[in-house]
This record gives sequence, structure tokens and C-alpha cells, in this order.
Amino acid sequence: LYMVCDQYSILITGGAGFVGSHLCYLFLKKGFNIISLDSFVNSTYEVSNNIRNLLKYEKVNIQNSFKFIKGDIKDTILLRKIFKEQLDINKPIKGVIHLAGLKSANESFKNPLKYWSNNVCGSINIFKVMEEFNCKIIVFSSSATIYGLTENKIINEKTKIKPINPYGNTKSTIETILNDIYFNSPNSWKIANLRYFNPIGAHPTGMLGENINDTPNNLFPYILQVALKKRNCLNVYGNDWPTKDGTGIRDYIHIMDLAKSHLLSFMNLLNSPPKIINLNIGTGKGTSVLELIRVFEEVNQCEIPWEFKSRRIGDVPICVADNSLCKKVLDWVPKKDIKTMCRDGWKWASSHPNGF
Ligand code: UD1
Repeated sequence: LYMVCDQYSILITGGAGFVGSHLCYLFLKKGFNIISLDSFVNSTYEVSNNIRNLLKYEKVNIQNSFKFIKGDIKDTILLRKIFKEQLDINKPIKGVIHLAGLKSANESFKNPLKYWSNNVCGSINIFKVMEEFNCKIIVFSSSATIYGLTENKIINEKTKIKPINPYGNTKSTIETILNDIYFNSPNSWKIANLRYFNPIGAHPTGMLGENINDTPNNLFPYILQVALKKRNCLNVYGNDWPTKDGTGIRDYIHIMDLAKSHLLSFMNLLNSPPKIINLNIGTGKGTSVLELIRVFEEVNQCEIPWEFKSRRIGDVPICVADNSLCKKVLDWVPKKDIKTMCRDGWKWASSHPNGF
């Protein structure tokens, strides 16, 4: 399946982030040429060493197949240069996995223009340059946040798109743009919108994981910081949500399962006629905040002090995937459970208490 993948390259935007770094690792391991483009606004250059070390540890020889570039997706000249260079060395960019973007719902309320500019303008730049170079395969990292409030039903891809924060609006807008691109040139583009639920955990060796140096927006990295005693106490946002224990329910998915879904999506697009497809990437299982804390404590034999705080703006009570479409289309099943996510996440954090 992957035999000819040495004759082209794949561009991963946001390749130094939590999802991006695990994707670089996985695609390199499968023999792809990878160009990672990242501005490092929410990541660091050191990530590339972790990726290389992990591959070395697994005795995977990647030779020259990994480029790790610092740059912004808003920089059209740089994008063109990257595409052109790959053409010149006979390894044209065949497809883009587009992850680069800002992702704090909370911050997006305070600074919506920053979100529209980075996420939407940045994406338009990528799509334009792709078109110029006749590169028309894209896997886009969308988010379950685009569904908004869903009346506690399991979410499938036909569920109404109705984001409740500016960040979610940018993600759904990018999907709209991709739809327009596809339907106005139906025999050329191959597009997959992957709607992530909540990716957590780390590579099982603990050699690659999420950067937890800054103030985390998300629950899991915050738990890691409390476990590391960098913070005294976890704030649990809301005890009065309409859920079994009053705390928010999410569909946590192991980062390696999520990474695998990108590999399968890319191969699926590569081998299929032009199409656009939206896929929920989750496990289909809901876990509350208190349940996640309990599992983490149990698996890792530690204590996570927590206290209730008022609800966080822009939150929804429940967000759980109907993942049947993705399982069918990609022939994929998420394999790792919550315990494994907690164990692997802690393995990473406890062995890298100061980040990368
Ligand atoms: C959040 C974003 C979402 C984004 C996703 C990925 C919001 C409202 N949503 O999703 O748009 O796509 O991250 O980056 O920010 N919680 C606590 N204490 C904390 C942090 C979170 O109790 O310190 C709770 C939340 O209220 C929620 C659950 O934990 O019930 C999960 O939160 P989080 O990890 O931030 O993920 P989402 O809210 O699903």
C-alpha cells in the first residue's frame, strides 16, 4: 500500500503540535517524505528531536525524508517556496494534512479577529497555493466543537453544524470553504474533514506527547500538571450540568488512534476518485470529568486534588461521537481505552516534567 510513497511528499501544517508531532512520527515510520511547517507559537522546535529519537529507538531509518520548517501558513511566499522546492527535487507535495490553527475556545471570545485571521485566512492561503501546484488532496483537522449544543444526543456527521464559540465558527467556515472548492470543481479535489473529539494520551513509550509547559486550556494536560505538582488543584468547571455526576462528558480518544485515522484517511483519498467526506474521529464512549480524574488516579497511583468552579464560557454538557461512518469508511477501530490514555499520558509527562 505504501510502496510508492517515496516518490512524493506530504505537507503537515502544525506538524510540531500535539497531533502534528504524532502524525509526523507515524507517517515517517510508514516511509513517507514529510515536511512539517509550524510557526511554533504553541509548540517548540525541540519536538523534532523527540520525533527523531523515537524513530531511532524503534530502529526506523528515515534518512532525509523529514523536513521541519519554521513558518506561518499566512506566509504565501514561503508556502510557494516549499511547494516549488519539492517539485524541483522530484518529490512533489501530493497532499496536505492541515492542522495549523489556534484552538482555544476561550481565547477566541477575547480575540475573534486573531482566530479568523490565523485559522481562516491561513487556510485560504494553503488552499490557494495547493491549487496553484495542482495538489488537491487534503485532510483537514476540524473539530467536534462545530456541532455546538446537541441536546445530549450522540453526534453523527449529519448533526446540525452550530458552533457556540468563535473558534468553532472558524472551523466550520473552513469546512464550508472546502465544500465550495469541491463542489465547484467536482472532478479534482479529494477532501476529508476529520472532526476530532478529545485527543489525549501520548505515544506508549512516553517519548512523545503534548507540550504541557504553558497554561493548558484542556482538561487532560491540566491533570498532568497537577499530577506533576506544578499546580495545586484542578478546577472542575461546573457541577450542575445535565449529566450523571453533573460534570461535562467528552469522548476522549488516544492520540495514536487519532493519528492512525489520518494515515487511513490519506490513503483512502489517494486511492479514491475525487470526493469530500466528513468523519467524526472519536471512540463513541463518553467519560465525565470526575470519571477521568478517578481513572487517572487509579491507573497512575497518584492523587489529583480538585474543586468545583463555575461553568466555563462556551462549554457544552455532552459531546460524544457516533463513529460508525469512520469505522466503515476507513476500516478503523479505536483500540485504546481510557486507562491506556491515562497511563501513556502520565508516562510522557512524568518522564518529561519540563516539556520537550
Ligand atoms: C475544548 C474546546 C474546543 C476545542 C478542544 C480542543 C472549549 C469550550 N472547548 O474542548 O473548542 O476544540 O478543546 O482543543 O474550550 N474541564 C475542567 N477543568 C479544566 C479544563 C476542562 O473541568 O481545567 C472540563 C470542561 O468543562 C469539559 C471537559 O473538562 O467538560 C473537557 O474540556 P477540554 O479538555 O477543554 O475539552 P473541550 O471542552 O471538549
